[in-house]
Amino acid sequence: MQIISAKDYGQLSWQASKLLEAQLVLKPDSVLGLATGSSPLGIYEELVRAYQAGAVDFSHVRTVNLDEYVGLPGDHPQSYARFMREHLFSHVNIDPANTHIPDGMNPDAEAECARYDELIHRLGGIDLQLLGLGPNGHIGFNEPEDYFPAGTHKVALTEATIQANKRFFDSEDQVPRFAYTMGVREIMQSRHVVLVVSGESKAKIVKEAFFGPVKPQVPASILQLHRRFTLVADEAALSGVSK
Ligand code: F6R
Repeated sequence: MQIISAKDYGQLSWQASKLLEAQLVLKPDSVLGLATGSSPLGIYEELVRAYQAGAVDFSHVRTVNLDEYVGLPGDHPQSYARFMREHLFSHVNIDPANTHIPDGMNPDAEAECARYDELIHRLGGIDLQLLGLGPNGHIGFNEPEDYFPAGTHKVALTEATIQANKRFFDSEDQVPRFAYTMGVREIMQSRHVVLVVSGESKAKIVKEAFFGPVKPQVPASILQLHRRFTLVADEAALSGVSK
């Protein structure tokens, strides 16, 4: 595990965006695994800036997102498909046909999950997977369990995740209860994993996930076993381990 410690969220976003930019310069047709949520917002802003400055080209890039809420159409304001368009895809020269997100409207969970795993394999796997860290240690929507879930699957969101995500919805009962998420297997098979985490509220889970035992009750802890895992964290998020 490599740790990049940033002073604050702005520096964290800048540092992490440079890792993605380097990936695209070295391999212009990279398969990027992307995340939503608040943590990567600054990175996407930096990437848009880099694109506008002519420093990166997305024309050959392929993307696979980690997850999508079940039951939300792609144009719903809180769907992850819309999030990605608003924060990244519509601002850069990526071909929309090269961007992939689980289809939250497919009622056949088994078929949708199999399709998504097959797609990732057809693309040749993920070159760089970007992750955020849930307050309960989840990555994607791989929630704390008694085992590590392997492939893409339908998951019931935990109460902690519903509480954490209700800020994006008008009311708590509008938060979908299920999501499709990439599993731990495809995340761990990515050639490089970059997890970004910011703020003191995540300090305790950062310590548990990356400085404690590997266990499915803290899904992100499995990243300790990844051969090329970069943790990009600000000082506040590292405050539980840096003293
Ligand atoms: C998002 C995702 C989630 C988030 C995590 C942290 O696609 O898969 O695992 O990365 O919930 O969310 P934020 O960044 O909003 O704290």
